[in-house]
Amino acid sequence: MTIIILLLLAYIIGSIPSGLWIGKLFYNTDIREHGSGNLGGTNTFRTLGKKAGLVVTIMDILKGTAATLLGYLAIFESTSVHPLILGIIAVIGHMFPVFAKFKGGKAVATSGGILLAYNWPLFVLLVLGFFIILKITKMVSLTSMILAIIALIYSIVYYFTVEKDWPLIAMLVLIAVFIFYRHRTNIERIKNGTEPKVKWI
Ligand code: G3P
Repeated sequence: MTIIILLLLAYIIGSIPSGLWIGKLFYNTDIREHGSGNLGGTNTFRTLGKKAGLVVTIMDILKGTAATLLGYLAIFESTSVHPLILGIIAVIGHMFPVFAKFKGGKAVATSGGILLAYNWPLFVLLVLGFFIILKITKMVSLTSMILAIIALIYSIVYYFTVEKDWPLIAMLVLIAVFIFYRHRTNIERIKNGTEPKVKWI
């Protein structure tokens, strides 16, 4: 399997617009026309409810996991492409999906999926952190941005205490940039106090 095919596969996996397809298939609803208009788990929760939101979030997470795992398969086949590169490509697919006119999500769940495959303790920490920080902030967007910073700090501490894993740091810097960039409108709303808050926590 050549590197190009692997990269393409990772992009296609990331491009699967779970929120769009689940909404259209089972609810006859285009979530891009509702709520924040974002093709992500949060807007699916908001627009279609808990069941659909959970399914879409899990699917978005698994896109990152699947693409990253491809990297491990490739290693077995002696094609050297770092698993994190494939994970990042899946996140790019998630943000700019070929199946949804290149308008996708905000990089959060799919990035989490990379960590599930690559460093599961960090994934578990972030999931726990998600609920704790969401309980305080009530805003998924703000929680996501805080988690991006926490993940980056974890990777730096990990580098100096456990293993010199610089690709993890590099990946998390990139992910933090993606997440903050994709949350530009949320940042504006947080500043002027109009960002929607969740009530269920
Ligand atoms: O994962 C996306 C989330 O952080 C914000 O989504 O729909 O509130 O803009 P949304």
